[in-house]
Amino acid sequence: MKPFTLFVNGEELHAPVEMANAPLAAFLKTTRFKSVKIACGEGGCGACTVALVEQSSEGGAPSLRTINSCLAPVYSVRGKSILTAEGLPPAATAAATAAATPATAGGPAASSVVVERLAAHHASQCGYCTPGFAVACHAALHNAANGCSGSSSNGHAHSNGNGCSSNGGAAAAESAPLLDGEGLRRALDGNLCRCTGYRPIVSACRSVGVADIEDLAGPPAAGAALLLPPRAAAAAAATADDVEEVALGAGQVLKVPRSLAALVAESGRLAAAAASAAATGSFSSWRLVAGHTGPGVYKDWPLAESVLLSVNEVPELRRLQQTDDGLVVGGAVTLEALAAHLDGKLAAGGGGGGVGSVGGGVKEWAAETAAHLRRIAGTHVRNAATVGGNLVLTAEAALPSDVATLLAAAGAEVELLLVSSDAAAHGVSRRMPLLDFVSGGGAAAKPAAGGYILTAVHVPLPHHGVRFWSQRIAERYSNAAAVANAAVSLRLQPAADGAAAGGATASVVAEARVVVGVRTDAAAGGGVAAARNAAKETDPTVVLLYGWDVRRLTAVEAALAGAPATPAALAAALAAAAPDLAAIDGVDAATAAIAEGLVVQGIFAAAGVTTATANGANGAAAAAADVAAPSRLPPPELVAGTQSYPAPLPEVAPVTEPTIKLGAKLQATGTAQYTEDVPVHKGALYGAYVMGAKAGAVLEAIDATPALALPGAVRFVGAADLEAGANGSNGYGYTFANRFEALRPGAPPPEPIFLPAGGRVEYAGQPVGLVLAESAAAAHRAAKAVQLSYRTAPSSSTTTSTATATNTTTTDAPPPPTVEPITPLLDIESALAARALYPLAALMPWLPAGKSLAPGPMTLAPFNGDVDALLAAAGAPPAAAAAGLPPPPPPAAEPPADGGSSSGEAAAATANGSSSSSSGDANGSSRERKLRVVRGRYYTPSQLHVYMETQSAVAAPEEDGGMTVQSACQGTDVIQGSVAAALGLPLSKVTARCRRLGGAFGGKATLSRRVAAAAAVAAAITGRQVRLQLPRNADMVLNGGRADCRVDYVAVLEEQAAAPTTAAAAAASHVGPTRWRLAGLDVFVAAAGGAFPDIAWLDAMGLCAAVDSLYDIPHMRCEVAMVRTNLPPRTAVRGPGEVNGTMIIEQVMEHVAAELGVNPEAFRAATFLQLPPSTAAATTAKTVTTATDNGTAAAAAPAGPSEADVEAEAGPADAGAVAEASTTQPSSAAAAATAADGSDQSKKEEEVLVLKTAFGKKIPAPLYTLPRLWHKLMREAGWEAMQAEVDAFNAAHPWTKRGLAALPARYGMQRGNKPAYVNILTDGTVQVACHGIEMGQGLFTKVAQVAAATLSEALPPANRPMDLSNIKICDNSSELLPNSGVTGGSTSSELAAAAVRLACLQLVDILKTKAVPKLKGKESFTWKELVAATSGGWGPANQLGAFAWGGQADLPEASGAEAAAVPTQTDYSVIGVAGALVELDVLTGERRVLRADILFDLGRPVNPAVDIGQVEGAFVMGLGMMLSEAASYDQSAEEAGGGTGALVQNSTWHYKPPAAACVPAQFNVTLLDDAPLSQAGPISSKACGEPPLLLSTAVLMALQRATAAARADAAGGCSADFVPLIAPATVQRVRTACGDWNAAERLQKAAAAAATAKAGK
Ligand SMILES: Cc1cc2nc3c(=O)[nH]c(=O)nc-3n(C[C@H](O)[C@H](O)[C@H](O)COP(=O)(O)OP(=O)(O)OC[C@H]3O[C@@H](n4cnc5c(N)ncnc54)[C@H](O)[C@@H]3O)c2cc1C
Ligand code: FES
Ligand code: FES
Repeated sequence: MKPFTLFVNGEELHAPVEMANAPLAAFLKTTRFKSVKIACGEGGCGACTVALVEQSSEGGAPSLRTINSCLAPVYSVRGKSILTAEGLPPAATAAATAAATPATAGGPAASSVVVERLAAHHASQCGYCTPGFAVACHAALHNAANGCSGSSSNGHAHSNGNGCSSNGGAAAAESAPLLDGEGLRRALDGNLCRCTGYRPIVSACRSVGVADIEDLAGPPAAGAALLLPPRAAAAAAATADDVEEVALGAGQVLKVPRSLAALVAESGRLAAAAASAAATGSFSSWRLVAGHTGPGVYKDWPLAESVLLSVNEVPELRRLQQTDDGLVVGGAVTLEALAAHLDGKLAAGGGGGGVGSVGGGVKEWAAETAAHLRRIAGTHVRNAATVGGNLVLTAEAALPSDVATLLAAAGAEVELLLVSSDAAAHGVSRRMPLLDFVSGGGAAAKPAAGGYILTAVHVPLPHHGVRFWSQRIAERYSNAAAVANAAVSLRLQPAADGAAAGGATASVVAEARVVVGVRTDAAAGGGVAAARNAAKETDPTVVLLYGWDVRRLTAVEAALAGAPATPAALAAALAAAAPDLAAIDGVDAATAAIAEGLVVQGIFAAAGVTTATANGANGAAAAAADVAAPSRLPPPELVAGTQSYPAPLPEVAPVTEPTIKLGAKLQATGTAQYTEDVPVHKGALYGAYVMGAKAGAVLEAIDATPALALPGAVRFVGAADLEAGANGSNGYGYTFANRFEALRPGAPPPEPIFLPAGGRVEYAGQPVGLVLAESAAAAHRAAKAVQLSYRTAPSSSTTTSTATATNTTTTDAPPPPTVEPITPLLDIESALAARALYPLAALMPWLPAGKSLAPGPMTLAPFNGDVDALLAAAGAPPAAAAAGLPPPPPPAAEPPADGGSSSGEAAAATANGSSSSSSGDANGSSRERKLRVVRGRYYTPSQLHVYMETQSAVAAPEEDGGMTVQSACQGTDVIQGSVAAALGLPLSKVTARCRRLGGAFGGKATLSRRVAAAAAVAAAITGRQVRLQLPRNADMVLNGGRADCRVDYVAVLEEQAAAPTTAAAAAASHVGPTRWRLAGLDVFVAAAGGAFPDIAWLDAMGLCAAVDSLYDIPHMRCEVAMVRTNLPPRTAVRGPGEVNGTMIIEQVMEHVAAELGVNPEAFRAATFLQLPPSTAAATTAKTVTTATDNGTAAAAAPAGPSEADVEAEAGPADAGAVAEASTTQPSSAAAAATAADGSDQSKKEEEVLVLKTAFGKKIPAPLYTLPRLWHKLMREAGWEAMQAEVDAFNAAHPWTKRGLAALPARYGMQRGNKPAYVNILTDGTVQVACHGIEMGQGLFTKVAQVAAATLSEALPPANRPMDLSNIKICDNSSELLPNSGVTGGSTSSELAAAAVRLACLQLVDILKTKAVPKLKGKESFTWKELVAATSGGWGPANQLGAFAWGGQADLPEASGAEAAAVPTQTDYSVIGVAGALVELDVLTGERRVLRADILFDLGRPVNPAVDIGQVEGAFVMGLGMMLSEAASYDQSAEEAGGGTGALVQNSTWHYKPPAAACVPAQFNVTLLDDAPLSQAGPISSKACGEPPLLLSTAVLMALQRATAAARADAAGGCSADFVPLIAPATVQRVRTACGDWNAAERLQKAAAAAATAKAGK
């Protein structure tokens, strides 16, 4: 069989037949063009983007059509020309080359314009997504420059005349971006980035202007590679048979008919063959294939049928033809081609005769339809996905189709060609209404699946007077399946009586078509989805599907028919919508409400009624003459806004310079290597996990026999192999490395590498073993064939995981039953009720234990003051009691040092609310106190890991019985330890290496052990190299993400005896008349740990560390329990716990402010830690509040110091002031911390004023930059002024609401010590080995900058700094630098830089003392000359290598004069503030972040460009947590098969991290430019990787306020009760939180009121 020829970047390649059906990306990975990444394998992320180079028959420049190479099978691109990131043409002109990025950016010297811009704009962090973005961006720019659409109409690689006219964009101004606005949004809509926050990617693409067109094309020679290579053209011509037949290997055949007649004949033959095979009991299968994107959703990959029949080359199925009837859209027309046709020809007013040419109705329909089509998936999917494929998937598999809704509303019909083994019936053509086809309704039944070919869709073009409108609501604006969609078509005609309405002649609705599609549960609509979902019983990675219902709202249509197009009549007609929608089988109330909202908007828009009515629809707007009709939100604008960071300090260059990231161009061209690119030897094996599918069930038997019978499968490795092994243990260690285990008394056992037969599946997805095979594809196929048998509770019935299980040969013999199946604990509530708790306090003995849940040290409970006394005085229950928990069993023994005391006196509170208490007595005070209680329940969500590179490892046995493992990990120590434990080897015999990561965010801190240990075990057993790389679905299932929390809080407010005394405080009138202040807060948190502990406890610790934030709360306690659920182990996710802590305290602030009726920002400012007056005079402000006599701050306080005050603050701290500024009482924890500081530290602290947070975190006053940041945000960024604008907007807009919120965040950083090893080589280059993995955070770049700056200290000032390109940062290796721990917690860059600086300083000393004297008084010498002076003939005469172990505290500057005012701390706080402005659509829950302002004190960043990128990226990642990243676990009811506990959102289809269009339209980020020197790192930088994520809480709070405004409207203008908006604020949650609008009734009432008012005039 002939291999497949394809042309990649102009080079002819041959794909072996066995890869014919493999994804193109998988084949490319076997070639030298490895830039594509398979980050999802389902068309959802764009990391695999390549472009097909297509030559139009009309000539001109070729167009570039981007596709997902993870979906396109190799056979589909045979003979085609493909462009990957490596092949982007280099810039043509000398000017561009001169402006190229420095050598340290890596990559070819002359790169493409796009690659250069991506590097120059700091647009890559981990770089894993970057090649995909580079291709997507280049292709869109190329097409824009050449005036072509970039899409061909049909099939995979056919041009339909959309070829490019050269220089089509030349009319635009030279400086204008080639792409912006909608065009740019579309160019990027198919690609995800988890790191950057998109702004730099958007700016890089925007920066390519008309002036760059020549460079974009590249030099003529390079440009030629873009043209279809002659051999490709020849190959295409040579295969012009009527039916091309292509052998795909393994007996599979692809047939490609090139005419309709051939298609009919071929399909008839296949149908007949299948029928006769069935009659004889044999098997013959065939299937139609088109764009091949269906497997992106339905995962039926690879296609197993023996014959694949392509429809792509049949001209009749690729036509876009206008006839007298309307538009004929061939079944194989791609979505993008249809959209291009609509906006190219029809929207321009053309239309090829017939009714289509007569009027604006066509234009509007075409524009609406094209815009809607372009919101389907991403560009690369749309470029391949066909209309026919979409409709067939809708009809047969409940696809949530937009195409069906759109075309059904246009009145389309499908044309089917019947396929039958009966010659008489075969080939008959039949037309039926499209809606009947997809919904199964109508008079004539749809032919059975597989019994037809959808040849065309006939769309009547609208007549004059037909108005068309459509919209979809999804979790993201782009690339997300719809939750609901709707399309409305109204035929309007002038009213017979010519009645006028509102000054214009009224129209009458002559005919209406209202089509809606809604998401339903899987069981609804015939249970097509449920049938597919049944596979979850055996495979936890199966992508669960919802159901989908698409229908006409006939009652609404009937009510509209003949009705005048007036608000009153429309409103009356709409009354039928809500009941019809709510009655849809399986729809939830929120989705039905969203669909109703769409219908309301659509009908008003299509009727051309732009005002809802006179008199408004809400109380607030009652006075307005007219209010806008309900209408959809405009599309989001792509991010713009300002970035501001400190100017570089020349004296420390290149430190503080915005240096381009090392290897930035390597990343953009895709030549940067990741673990997946580590070459393996011939004979290497590939692993795929076999996973337990049912949480709580006992795994009775494992039968690998069927799997091992499959081609390529080699071996199954399971627990039995480990037990039979020599020294190894079935466990991959505990936390960071095995040596830590001793520190964890009472800790539960670690997760086993493989679950043995007879063991219990503790969570769905738990690894049972690996299937090893000769290829990754074979391994994955075989792993699915391993049969697992379970015993489940309570019936103890045995079920076998595959239907065909007949032979139960067990690979692992079942041991005697020692465990029983259980009903899994799948949520916090059930785990709490079962008192399934992790011994948190035993894991973190440095934090005080609580005792409300159990007598042992099960919970943490840091505290301050006397919370119980205050609660008692207020008559409030403790939060733990409010959580509704039954009292714990009587204590056997009290834990020591327990500051909390439980109280069972109050009844449980289950709802949010507030109450005022009578006067009471607390803290021994004798005076009467007025106390008020606010309590509530809140939830903080989980967030899953979507690092773009999935977990991956390559293990290779060594000659001495040792093991070398390349691992995508956050610490080679971790891997070394776990592999050594698994294999029973000494650490010295295990080497772990890592070059870089494609993102990690905590997910590879410990969980990379699992994959590395499994690969190592397999390699040890087989003696062969083993590669194990997880597919996205398996990765998501296995990695439990962040711990979600249930939170109960009780806040006690105390009214101050006197009004604020300072003038400034009194001036803060916007606080309102309240004198209440937050006197105490009790919080009880139940966090969901997974089935094994991993490092979920970090969430508890981080939560306790952040929950006191920067507020002065005299009495505070936060008790945290971590429950053990039967969910995947939870682990660290960027800002673990800290973000939860921030959400909790900020929600308390919001709630309290709402109860008090005061401005929340003002209340926050009043509650901030305050500097006492003596210091304020010198440091912050005249306006800060003073501590009152009884040690509490005044309730009314300013929103921040005035400008003059802030200027005053910029001066040095009052070094003479000696005070403890905290108004809180020192806690035992704080006291312990102080003692632990040691005497030096204490001495320094005596010299400077130190504030303390409630839980004792110390902040030296000069570093307390919150007042300054807050002031800048409030005054300079104008947030105070914006509040008034928001209020005015909300009063005037009943259907859209805005919300604004601003808040602070504090992130506590711990410092430590790390190793570094620096060697100067004799040519002057420098090898640096540092602790720290480069995972996108720019660690290597910062370390290189610090190394260059430090070594340059040996040079005369005029010769500084040395060239950065001298510095090479080595890959991480446990051989080179062991004992370096984990890269994480944001500390690593600063730590690594500090340790490297310490090592470099040793070398500087050597150079100065030994080499400089040899230069004999030369005043100027270069670095190379200096190094040459160390030469000693045969080798260096001096020591040129230095090792250091240390951290920031060891740096000499710590004792320098500059830092005198600031004590060197073992820890420090990173402080920032943010404000967010959001807008929501009350009727659909759609939401936009209009603006976000972030101000951060990052000290003096080593690389401000890197740091600002971290800030933006972290904020946007937090945005996902706040808005869209919903995660849930299968808890299906018993009738539906029971809950397996498997993750539902295990794919990009379901799980929605932010895309480019989600980023705030105006995104202003400022790094404080004159931050005080803090000694927090080399040159005073501060950690930045995680802290900014906390600030995304502002978006949620702003949205919560917008929903409150909506509810207030719904309640007729009354202020609404406080209702928490739970994150992620999905469209359904937002819609629900907006209240019960009953839009039709409200509109009717308003219209009636308007009519009455008019009559009264
Ligand atoms: C990431 C992603 C996101 C998506 N988001 C959306 C979305 O938001 N909205 C939406 O509407 N869709 C969405 N889709 C679905 C997408 O539109 C469909 O996958 C696509 O249209 C199917 O067309 P295809 O040519 O790729 O079909 P294929 O995958 O080639 O085939 C799909 C099925 O249809 C059959 N088939 C194909 N053509 C014909 C024909 N002419 N006659 C009979 N049977 C045929 C095939 O046999 C096969 O069973 C998304 C898809 C992906 C991958
Ligand atoms: S890997 Fe292809 S789209 Fe994600
Ligand atoms: S840089 Fe985009 S995913 Fe890491």
